[in-house]
Amino acid sequence: MPSAVEIRPLARDDDRSGLSCGDAELDRFFEHYAGQNQFKLHLAVTYVAAVEGRIFGFATVTPSSLERAAVPSARLRKRLPRYPLPVLRLARLGVDVRAQGLGIGKALLRHVLTLAIEQRDRLGCVGVVADAKPGAVAFYGGLGFVALEGVREGLLISEPLPMFLGIETIAVALAG
Ligand SMILES: CC(C)(COP(=O)(O)OP(=O)(O)OC[C@H]1O[C@@H](n2cnc3c(N)ncnc32)[C@H](O)[C@@H]1OP(=O)(O)O)[C@@H](O)C(=O)NCCC(=O)NCCS
Repeated sequence: MPSAVEIRPLARDDDRSGLSCGDAELDRFFEHYAGQNQFKLHLAVTYVAAVEGRIFGFATVTPSSLERAAVPSARLRKRLPRYPLPVLRLARLGVDVRAQGLGIGKALLRHVLTLAIEQRDRLGCVGVVADAKPGAVAFYGGLGFVALEGVREGLLISEPLPMFLGIETIAVALAG
């Protein structure tokens, strides 16, 4: 990974044009909606990865909830109540094609996992749910995320697959 990567919240005056993640929907989201969702509608917060002031990637998070029945671990399910469980949702993650494969995606994800631990300690959080695009399922799987087959939001295989990483696994991963 480039040594001087800074991960910080999106700022109002950040230039949001010019990011090219190899996925037009992600680029359009970052350019047109990330700021509005954060500063006007307060729906989500976007964190950016910047090198020498230039943005090379972003992760958008929002608090969310998960039904107990969707939790993939039977052991964990047994210990949890029936009402919706607090999670941190990783709604979008993108790295510019010119910087992919350098560890920026992993660094952004690590930051998101740190936020989940903060949420656990301040508000409650049983894990992170990532909305994985088909090309990123292996990326999340390699990091320990497990598919939530029961709660796929759309019917088409091209639509995002929700994937879950439990808070205890997150705590162990960050300690290592
Ligand atoms: C998926 C994405 C976010 C990964 O970011 P990145 O900065 O290229 O990934 P990193 O360099 O941090 O790679 C971390 C690890 O994941 C692996 N990896 C990266 N992209 C992968 C993919 N698409 N499938 C499987 N593994 C992948 C890397 O080989 C690396 O493994 P290692 O730690 O064993 O060496 C980025 O490639 C991207 O923006 N892709 C297009 C948009 C997209 O699919 N976004 C996800 C939306 S949910």
